[in-house]
Amino acid sequence: MRVLVTGGAGYIGLHASLELLGAGHEVVILDNLVNSKREALGRLETLAGQSVSFYEGDVRDRALLDRVFTDHKVDAVMHFAGLKAVGESTQRPLEYYDVNVNGSWTLVSAMVHHQVHCIVFSSSATVYGNPHEVPIREDFPLSATNPYGRTKLVVEEMLRDVAAAYPELSVVLLRYFNPGGAHKSGLIGEDPNGIPNNLIPFIAQVAVGKRDQLAVFGDDYDTPDGTGVRDYIHVLDLAEGHVVALERLHHERGVHVYNLGTGRGYSVLQVLKAFEAVVGRPLKYRVVDRRPGDIGECWADPAKATESLGWSAKRGIGEMVEDVWRWQSQNPDGFSGLSD
Ligand code: NAD
Ligand code: UD1
Repeated sequence: MRVLVTGGAGYIGLHASLELLGAGHEVVILDNLVNSKREALGRLETLAGQSVSFYEGDVRDRALLDRVFTDHKVDAVMHFAGLKAVGESTQRPLEYYDVNVNGSWTLVSAMVHHQVHCIVFSSSATVYGNPHEVPIREDFPLSATNPYGRTKLVVEEMLRDVAAAYPELSVVLLRYFNPGGAHKSGLIGEDPNGIPNNLIPFIAQVAVGKRDQLAVFGDDYDTPDGTGVRDYIHVLDLAEGHVVALERLHHERGVHVYNLGTGRGYSVLQVLKAFEAVVGRPLKYRVVDRRPGDIGECWADPAKATESLGWSAKRGIGEMVEDVWRWQSQNPDGFSGLSD
């Protein structure tokens, strides 16, 4: 298949593109590089052993989308492009609605016009809000606790409405839990701008000496050690999940929703210990207040994806941390520190 990957220069889009190429698909990437670097695409091409068509531009630019869909007979779209920082979304909600909602609207409008019938959308476990119990199934009630989460919910709803009106469409909503890890080569990985918001990149930067210590956001949750519990899924498992979903579902009309998680939860302190084991020394941390909006526990019931797609996450927390450490220690400054 020929797949347009929006946001393909970003963390998950890069790994998914590599997996697509490895599976024999053709990839066209559209990315405005607002949260990624061109150098990452060079690394992708090196790893894939082939070149990739790249359009530097905005997913809200309809004229550009028309050009992409005219230049290439695209069979399906994987839509990763978007803004993803929860805290920032509370400060700049209009920007989040513009990029995430208007961007998706523009993309889907162009897909309908150019008769592209399949979209795989990057949704998030954030759409479950504060779940009443764990593990979380796809049929749990949906809600949002911040503007970022609301943009994901709005796009899910929009895609349902569009699928109802255009029955030839196949819409795949993949709700990721907590992505982590990096490619085994150490050549591509997560390269956050500024201070990382998320646990894994933050600990990686403590380990490499870029940050002094980890602030553990609360140790008074109702969890075994009091710290927050999450379902950390290796980005390579996530990438495989995308390709399997695409291959299985691109001709299956309607809306298909899957959790992509491991079904296991780890606490903040367990993740820290896993890093210490890989790095071979203790890492500094201190416990601070809870982060506003955080929940105690969040992990997936991934049974639906296993049963109907035959996909399940294969990699554990130890392997994830090893891969993050390889990427971080080889590239302490991310892609800007790499030479082609
Ligand atoms: P990322 O920021 O690394 O990648 C997103 C890419 O989209 C970047 O390369 C960025 O430059 C590009 N982009 C942003 N706005 C754009 C625009 N207007 N036009 C074109 N390109 C644009 O993020 P990621 O972690 O790879 O996440 C990918 C998707 O998965 C996002 O939609 C995100 O909300 C979703 N998601 C991520 C996580 C996570 O923890 N990483 C969890 C759940 C869902
Ligand atoms: C965050 C987002 C969520 C998004 C998910 C995956 C928030 C409120 N939620 O979720 O919308 O879908 O990322 O990208 O930001 N922690 C620390 N110290 C840190 C960082 C994190 O103790 O410096 C703790 C958190 O309290 C949490 C766990 O580590 O218990 C994981 O945090 P994080 O990586 O930010 O992911 P989520 O909070 O699950």
